[in-house]
Amino acid sequence: MAKEVVLSGIRPTGFLHLGNYFGAMRNYVRMQDEYNCYFFVANWHSLTTHPDTKELQSAVHRVVAENVACGLDPEKVSLYVQSDVPEIAELYLYLNMLAYKGELEKTTSFKDKVRLQPENINAGLLTYPVLMAADILIHRAVKVPVGKDQEQHLEMARNFAQRFNHRYGEVLPEPQAFNFGGELVKILSLDGEGKMSKSENQLNTLYLADSDELLRKKIMKAKTDQGPLEPNSIKPAYIENLFTLMKLVSNPDTYSKFEADFAASSTGNCIIRYGDMKKQLAEDMVQFITPIREKAAAIQEDKNLLARIIKTGAEKARESAHATLNEVRKAIGMNY
Ligand code: ADP
Ligand code: TRP
Repeated sequence: MAKEVVLSGIRPTGFLHLGNYFGAMRNYVRMQDEYNCYFFVANWHSLTTHPDTKELQSAVHRVVAENVACGLDPEKVSLYVQSDVPEIAELYLYLNMLAYKGELEKTTSFKDKVRLQPENINAGLLTYPVLMAADILIHRAVKVPVGKDQEQHLEMARNFAQRFNHRYGEVLPEPQAFNFGGELVKILSLDGEGKMSKSENQLNTLYLADSDELLRKKIMKAKTDQGPLEPNSIKPAYIENLFTLMKLVSNPDTYSKFEADFAASSTGNCIIRYGDMKKQLAEDMVQFITPIREKAAAIQEDKNLLARIIKTGAEKARESAHATLNEVRKAIGMNY
């Protein structure tokens, strides 16, 4: 049986962090054997909010390098750059004729961005969900691994696909967001305030590109308190987050020891030592991130390798995109 098609995209708008790793990239890597996977760098999308392209090329290279360093195998998946696949732009054009101004203006991400950049409310921003639908539908992908914030965009992609099929005939399957069962992890910022994210709060975010020293410094400064007041207390979010991180990167015995220390602690009998816990976590984090950082840096410096990965990815993606576009043109009657 043919493998199901999976697609996801990452905007090259900042350094990737531990939240991206455990929330997205680790899952991409897990999917690469079971599915026919397409992963791409959404550089057209980044122009809707970041018109200055001085840093764009290095950001695109970094996203590709970091994804490969995290375990994506460019032989197994198609890892490509959006602008290398012009077929997407043609499908975007057709879908734009099926998207209504009213529904685009009501999209949550559009309203957020209007507030954030009132001086640059461009048409690309308004039609962001149409381009995203084209990204997905061009490979007739059915599973799209994304976070909760993208669910509205997925719903719009299904609507555009439905309208197309209704008007021109069944060509485009309806894609669903894919959430990895109960295993969704959310990594909080090290101060426990909100999620770890690309652009906010750099000292409380662990980036895959951080040096050992910086990782240690950030973790040692992570928020803690004087310890639990009574045995088996519920952990505050910032403490829970340290345990989450430890569970992800430390060995299970280490995690269990600190878990038991926490459960046994109370006022006047504080067994858990957060300083020791953070020191251990920092060392385990360094062990975890260093190989990824070093591998990513080596790939980023090897321009020939990068070019090869990006070219192979584009070839695979264009083959699939071309096949869909043929069907689309035939259905519309634009095959002369
Ligand atoms: P950011 O908020 O850092 O800009 P994006 O919105 O580009 O990240 O998200 C890229 C992917 O990483 C998405 O699939 C998202 O669900 C995941 N992700 C981002 N931040 C976190 C986090 N703190 N914890 C878990 N997953 C995250
Ligand atoms: N909008 C997504 C984000 O902000 C990025 C993206 C663009 C995407 N096109 C996509 C994700 C297609 C999944 C599928 O994170």
